[in-house]
Amino acid sequence: PDHAMDGRIAAAREKLGASTILLGHHYQRDEVIRFADFTGDSYKLSKAAAETDARYIVFCGVHFMAESADVLGKPNQQVILPDLNAGCSMADMAEISQVENCWDSLLAAGLKPGEVVPLTYMNSTAAIKAFCGERGGLVCTSSNARGAFEWAFERAEKILFLPDQHLGRNTAFAMGFTPADLVVWDPFQINGGLTPARLRAAKVILWKGHCSVHQRFLPSHVDAVRAKYPGINVIVHPECRWEVCQKADALGSTERLIKLVEDAPEGSSFAIGTEIHLVNRLAKRFAPLGKKVITLDDTGCLCTTMYRISPNHLAWALENLVDGRVVNRIQVQDDVKHWARVALDRMLEVKA
Ligand code: 13P
Ligand code: SF4
Repeated sequence: PDHAMDGRIAAAREKLGASTILLGHHYQRDEVIRFADFTGDSYKLSKAAAETDARYIVFCGVHFMAESADVLGKPNQQVILPDLNAGCSMADMAEISQVENCWDSLLAAGLKPGEVVPLTYMNSTAAIKAFCGERGGLVCTSSNARGAFEWAFERAEKILFLPDQHLGRNTAFAMGFTPADLVVWDPFQINGGLTPARLRAAKVILWKGHCSVHQRFLPSHVDAVRAKYPGINVIVHPECRWEVCQKADALGSTERLIKLVEDAPEGSSFAIGTEIHLVNRLAKRFAPLGKKVITLDDTGCLCTTMYRISPNHLAWALENLVDGRVVNRIQVQDDVKHWARVALDRMLEVKA
């Protein structure tokens, strides 16, 4: 870890006082997250953004999280993303124009608007969240995906789930749906690569997106770690593929994965399938308490976009605030904000 910026960050933080809140996602580097006033998974951080009265929200996370904070924040608040290049490869796999095309194709296949609820994972643009809100749908995170599916199925017969096929498949299978109920919409094929009859028969239409970090965990990693460490608990994020989740002992959002280790008795051991910074932090924190934590894939999976938030970017953004300048503001357009807010408010009503 590079602690060269510690003094600058701490000094700026002190000068800004209560005007500024620093939110940190669990995948942030140690030298950044240690300055966070509040840490959490996507759900917890969006709640924090909705509840804070601070004038400035400095979001140490990725673009879609900062956008959601801007949508949920109060009118006088401003959201700052220390590095504008901190995106998310999964969120980039669905563009609003592609989603609109998909929706048109569903209607052309004979589905009625009220028959399908569009449900988007938090890891998507504000425009896609607004699209869902306007059509009676909502947003979910990995911690309330099941509740959001149930919410949607109380209102319609089908779900269009964007953009993470793995979270969608894992949630649907956990609810008792079978492969015959699911189809995968490929945005790079005409009509998603599906016939109108197949679309009409499906209960869950999954968008063909994935997390390039979590997709690297494989079933063979689970087998290898179990063979090497008999009795180890394998816990993974639900963005991992179905074949991995099926072999795991438990699935959970980043917050839940942490809780599983916290609540385990001394002497427990865990192999975790999620981003390496979180895994390493847990390993360090729990080793003195007699709990062993290792990464599921022994090379470790790094989210390079989360990693973009460096101590240098953070120091620079905070020092500009001290000087009265807002740099790297994330601002969602007003017309998008309204419906994105509707979809996010529905998400916050579904318990994590
Ligand atoms: P969580 O909501 O579990 O923190 O997940 C966010 C994310 O991007 C995981 O890749
Ligand atoms: Fe996006 Fe995957 Fe990084 Fe999460 S871990 S922010 S889904 S690229």
